[in-house]
Amino acid sequence: MKVELAKMAGFCFGVNRAVDTVYEEAKQFSPVYTYGPIIHNETVIDDLEKKGVQVIHSLEEAKELTEGTIVIRSHGVTRREQEELTADGLRVVDATCPFVKKIHKLVQEYSEKGYYVVIIGSGDHPEVQGIVGWSDETRTSVISTVDEAQNLDLKPWKKVCIVAQTTFNYNKFQELIEIIQKKGYDSESTVDKDKKFVVHNTICNATKERQEAARELSGRVDAMLVIGGISSSNTRKLYEICSEKCRNTYFIQTKEDLENSDFSRFDYVGITAGASTPNNIIEEVQKYVRNEF
Ligand code: F3S
Repeated sequence: MKVELAKMAGFCFGVNRAVDTVYEEAKQFSPVYTYGPIIHNETVIDDLEKKGVQVIHSLEEAKELTEGTIVIRSHGVTRREQEELTADGLRVVDATCPFVKKIHKLVQEYSEKGYYVVIIGSGDHPEVQGIVGWSDETRTSVISTVDEAQNLDLKPWKKVCIVAQTTFNYNKFQELIEIIQKKGYDSESTVDKDKKFVVHNTICNATKERQEAARELSGRVDAMLVIGGISSSNTRKLYEICSEKCRNTYFIQTKEDLENSDFSRFDYVGITAGASTPNNIIEEVQKYVRNEF
């Protein structure tokens, strides 16, 4: 059996930076908290817990703390959360990925200039909730589907700014932009020449590179393994992409999920992993597949 790892897989720059930050803080300070799980990976969370790092989930929990360091994870937080965490007198270390920070700045800037902001992404994802919190929420929509793009009513707005969740699927982003443009909201539109329509493709390259590598590999193999946390949206998207190309695509969290599967019928197995999957888990899966099937 041939086993191949996608050219780009696993931890991205932003997650790597945030995880390293927490490990560094835990070496020097105590107590250390992360505002939400630092990544969607239970193995890493458990390891950090052993090093004295606890996860808090809300401003209310933060307000009960009298001392300590809070690390903001790569997803970022809302403006209100950032301000209130700092005001509580705790030490706040901001490990928001710089690419997410850039989106915060964009939506803040365009909101202040009077633009209506459209965020293409999943409204229930913490990164998107954080981004919404830097815009004028009364003039912001979050959309992720064709139906939502078609139903978006932008007629009352002269100026519209569109950004994307960093992990959003690139092709789907383009599809949704086209739908909105066809509705006549393009700045070139004859419907309303005054309308300003600004699109910022804020999808992170790390995501695109992983998605392209996964698409390419899943088109060549008999079976594809996608490794990542069950609640990791970028891993779910990799799974979606691979499933389109390879019908034997499996979503696993660790090698333990493979223990009752029979892969012996496959000659060629591909592996990819979400941006929050540590290298040691990818290596374990690779080793397991090579040795066991
Ligand atoms: Fe940042 Fe891109 Fe990772 S936005 S957190 S480097 S996926």
